[in-house]
Amino acid sequence: MQRLCVMGLGYVGLPAAAMLAGRGHQVVGCDTDPRVVAAVQSGQAHFHEPDLDMLLAAALTTGRLTAQAVPAPAEVFVIAVPTPLGPGCSPRADLSCVEAATDAIAPLLRPGNLVILESTCPVGTTEALAARLAAARPDLALPRRGQPAPPGCVHLAHCPERVLPGSMLRELVANDRIIGGLTPACAELARAVYAGFVTGRCWVTDSRTAELAKLAENAFRDVNIAFANELASICEAVEVDPWAAITLANRHPRVAILQPGAGVGGHCIAVDPWFLAQAAPERSALIRTARGVNEAKPGQVAARIRALAGGMDRPAIACLGLTYKADVEDLRASPALAVAEDLARDGTLRLLCCDPMLPTLPPSLAGRPGVALVGIEAALVQADILAVLVPHAAFRALPPQVFADRVVVDTVGLLRQA
Ligand SMILES: NC(=O)c1ccc[n+]([C@@H]2O[C@H](COP(=O)([O-])OP(=O)(O)OC[C@H]3O[C@@H](n4cnc5c(N)ncnc54)[C@H](O)[C@@H]3O)[C@@H](O)[C@H]2O)c1
Repeated sequence: MQRLCVMGLGYVGLPAAAMLAGRGHQVVGCDTDPRVVAAVQSGQAHFHEPDLDMLLAAALTTGRLTAQAVPAPAEVFVIAVPTPLGPGCSPRADLSCVEAATDAIAPLLRPGNLVILESTCPVGTTEALAARLAAARPDLALPRRGQPAPPGCVHLAHCPERVLPGSMLRELVANDRIIGGLTPACAELARAVYAGFVTGRCWVTDSRTAELAKLAENAFRDVNIAFANELASICEAVEVDPWAAITLANRHPRVAILQPGAGVGGHCIAVDPWFLAQAAPERSALIRTARGVNEAKPGQVAARIRALAGGMDRPAIACLGLTYKADVEDLRASPALAVAEDLARDGTLRLLCCDPMLPTLPPSLAGRPGVALVGIEAALVQADILAVLVPHAAFRALPPQVFADRVVVDTVGLLRQA
């Protein structure tokens, strides 16, 4: 049994804290948002994730998990706070939350403690945190990359999270894990923490490689999705069904083209490639171009819908799906939401937003003239144009006849799958 303090109780930190408590550790979860602390204390996750409430309730009942606004002394500190993009057209990571969390735990650190950075970060961040802690706590020994760990030092490791929203608890246990220590001793201590609940393999490496590997995963996905999106755009220009073309191309034994969509969203794939590019901008032309292709896609979809609406008198557009991907309620960086926001901008169109995952309109659409949240049936009956933006299960279950003889903009290949 170890005492752990998890900084940040969001999509990543809360499942990790509940899982660690479930494995017998004493865990204090710390979050600067009082609403998050109150929700966790009451046993209700503040976001939907299958089985999380059950795990959380068990951890609270045994008293092994508590939530509070300030960190508590521990043997292991896990940092799982947001790492958003800063402003600009070639944005860099905003590490202010990671730095604030590091500063908050600095006074509590004791020799031999381990600090695990789970937040996705640019290359070199773990080393920068060690330097920050060294400045805040000159009384402590801190390790340095490439040098043996000094005796009695505080240890640091980067162990990036790769869970998929919707399958988080299963993936938290089953996924392989990258363990990047600032020194081999740091890595070994971190590996022991994850070995307690991970059934996948723990791959031990140095912190810089771990940081880069995590970013490479999402940049790889982004570049490949950009290819599919560009292909779909070319197909549209020459009136070819992109899904038919991709299916045929994928019959080649060494080709596996991804599926196009309304863009790329979520907290990771749309963000992490910039973190990789910032390591060496002059060497990242492909990564930056792919970002540009994917970021342009929602605007292209909206333009296509506007072109179809052009000949109609104040038409109603059904936006089928607003979340960033199918069957989640997460709206972060959602391209479908970006399409709806674009269409709502000048108030000339009526928008019937339909998303079975959302109880209310997102704040950016709420109160806009002509914009309403409707159920599937109302959307299908009232719309002049059906824009399929997210392949939610509820839409996949619709019989193909409901789309027959309708004006449909199918960005996700729903009709092809039906
Ligand atoms: N969500 C995912 O699916 C996912 C997957 C892999 C990696 N990641 C990465 O994990 C990190 C966390 O992401 P998330 O989705 O859990 O974010 P989140 O926004 O859901 O949660 C982060 C929490 O940290 C809290 N917080 C902010 N500053 C704090 C501080 N100084 N001290 C304590 N708490 C603080 C916030 O109030 C929030 O509740 C990010 O770097 C993200 O890129 C996320």
